[in-house]
Amino acid sequence: MHLAALLFVSALFVAAFALDNGVMRTPPMGWLAWERFRCDIDCEHDPKNCIRQNLFIDMADRLAEDGWRELGYVYVNIDDCWSSMERDEKGRLQPDPKRFPGGIPKLARYMHDRGLKLGIYGDMGTHTCGGYPGTPLDKITIDAQTFADWEVDMFKFDGCYSNATEQEQGYPLMSKALNATGRPIGYSCSWPAYQGGLPPKVNYTQLAKICNLWRNYGDIQDSWDSVLNIIDWFFENQDILIPVAGPGRWNDPDMLIVGDFGLSMDQSRAQMALWAIMAAPLFMSNDLRTISSGARRILQNKIAININQDPMGVQGRRIVKEKSGIEVFWRPLSNNASALVFFSRRSDMPYRYRTSLSRLNYTTGSYKIFDVFSEKTVTLKDSTDFVVSVNPSGVVMWYVSAPAELNLRQFYRGGKLQRSAYDDDENAIPRVFL
Ligand code: GLA
Repeated sequence: MHLAALLFVSALFVAAFALDNGVMRTPPMGWLAWERFRCDIDCEHDPKNCIRQNLFIDMADRLAEDGWRELGYVYVNIDDCWSSMERDEKGRLQPDPKRFPGGIPKLARYMHDRGLKLGIYGDMGTHTCGGYPGTPLDKITIDAQTFADWEVDMFKFDGCYSNATEQEQGYPLMSKALNATGRPIGYSCSWPAYQGGLPPKVNYTQLAKICNLWRNYGDIQDSWDSVLNIIDWFFENQDILIPVAGPGRWNDPDMLIVGDFGLSMDQSRAQMALWAIMAAPLFMSNDLRTISSGARRILQNKIAININQDPMGVQGRRIVKEKSGIEVFWRPLSNNASALVFFSRRSDMPYRYRTSLSRLNYTTGSYKIFDVFSEKTVTLKDSTDFVVSVNPSGVVMWYVSAPAELNLRQFYRGGKLQRSAYDDDENAIPRVFL
């Protein structure tokens, strides 16, 4: 090959590939302390909920014993307020000695022994958002090495108390420093969230090269308003965000709050469905010790998880926005399959939305459809009108297999769903009226 052509091809190669640490080829999944447990350090009065070793051990036990780990939820992530107010005599960060008496390496071992991974949190300014010691520019190398020495698997680098110039230096520097440790550490950058999340201030091409995931936007709170606000921002800016995402590099709309206090079951399904469409990291921030069976069922929905984890890693988009308040989202999946989500912004009653697959850009004949939450199948011709009934602030989510030849088998590997996926009993479908 001509040298110039070779250089061009290798330049493409660099541009197309993410941070070269081999991790997070599909969106990371696990648990993250922040939204649910915040900066509660009052272990004397609130021993069950304060940020300390036991909280992470409790969550690890639940992940390992209640079927989460097998579904892919493997990260247990410490957020803010874990550290001591002082660095140690060698200038290293250290955990609060009362709340983490075993130190971080012991916690990392606890996770690894159970097939889980440990994540930790830092901030590239003078202080973390919660007022704990930060990792300014001159501390980046030592902190990256400390996390690697502790055998941490993921690092979230927040941006409070730093300015744009420092961030421009700090986020790439930390990426290099983490790589230089030789330990693969998933790298979550809050950088874009501090710069408004949009170009020209945010350079997504660069971010994709240095970070595995990035917080684009504000913090999620325990309310439907907050979820809706995030959904609005991500889909309004989808043309900017979609091309950046892919294996090893993900937009992060923030944690799942399913299982907390703010969402109804329909809203919980909506969050799960749209996070799956967005190829978003699935970090739950809830109390796995007391979670309801309904919330658990939503978070453990195998098909929704499989859609989220599709190996092609293409982020989905909103394709229809009706005046009626119905919106349709679509995500292309591997094996010529796809996912559809019908979402209702209405607040009256279940809305009977009439459309057809051809109106949703499906043009090649007949498709086998699996309803993700009702677990029923139906076959639909592209030209046939159908009606889906979508609850207020709820969703209907479909896995649409490749036209004609259906290959759902890999989808239901080993589960009892395998049979129902092949079951063509159209009468058993409550929410699709043909
Ligand atoms: C910021 C981040 C949150 C959380 C807090 C901790 O607000 O965006 O996700 O880490 O700081 O103080």
